[in-house]
Amino acid sequence: MDLLELAKARWSVRKFSPRPLEQEKLERILEAGRAAPTAANFQPQHIYVLQSEEALARINSLCRCIYGAKTVLLLSYDTERDWKNPQQAGIHSGEQDVSIVATHIMLSAWEQGVASCWVNAFANDQVAAAFGLPERERVVLLLPLGYAAEDAKPMEKWHFSRKPLADTVTFL
Ligand SMILES: Cc1cc2nc3c(=O)[nH]c(=O)nc-3n(C[C@H](O)[C@H](O)[C@H](O)COP(=O)(O)O)c2cc1C
Repeated sequence: MDLLELAKARWSVRKFSPRPLEQEKLERILEAGRAAPTAANFQPQHIYVLQSEEALARINSLCRCIYGAKTVLLLSYDTERDWKNPQQAGIHSGEQDVSIVATHIMLSAWEQGVASCWVNAFANDQVAAAFGLPERERVVLLLPLGYAAEDAKPMEKWHFSRKPLADTVTFL
């Protein structure tokens, strides 16, 4: 499958089977994240792999979008180590860096038959506190990861509609 086919085939899975994710697949997925570009190559990201019963119970108590996954990646970045734009006050690269890492992870997972769902519907500071992250780390997203349940389906109104290119691209 080439990258365009892969990107179009992927969908957000919101019902996971209890089948555990193999360690080799997880390592390959994390390696794809490691290959992601970051601003000035500062690599401010940190990925927490939540797999213990305790960690999963904690994240399920703070977020309704875990969908039964037995592996959840929590992606954060170090606000003291991301790139700061000297030409535009207040513009920092952390969220962009982490988003690229997460996108690599999501696509590498799908390529190996592993499903995920990008999740940002949670209280970021509460999650950071619950897992004892350092003050300077900011949580960006959660990525429940694993095998789709047999009856999981893409959401009709969300997965199947993309705006025409002309609505989102302007040639100048
Ligand atoms: C930044 C971002 C935040 C998202 N947050 C959530 C979320 O909290 N819960 C959820 O179920 N899906 C979430 N999604 C998944 C989107 O709803 C989904 O990607 C979009 O509707 C397109 O559907 P598809 O991924 O199945 O193609 C999020 C996606 C992105 C990119």
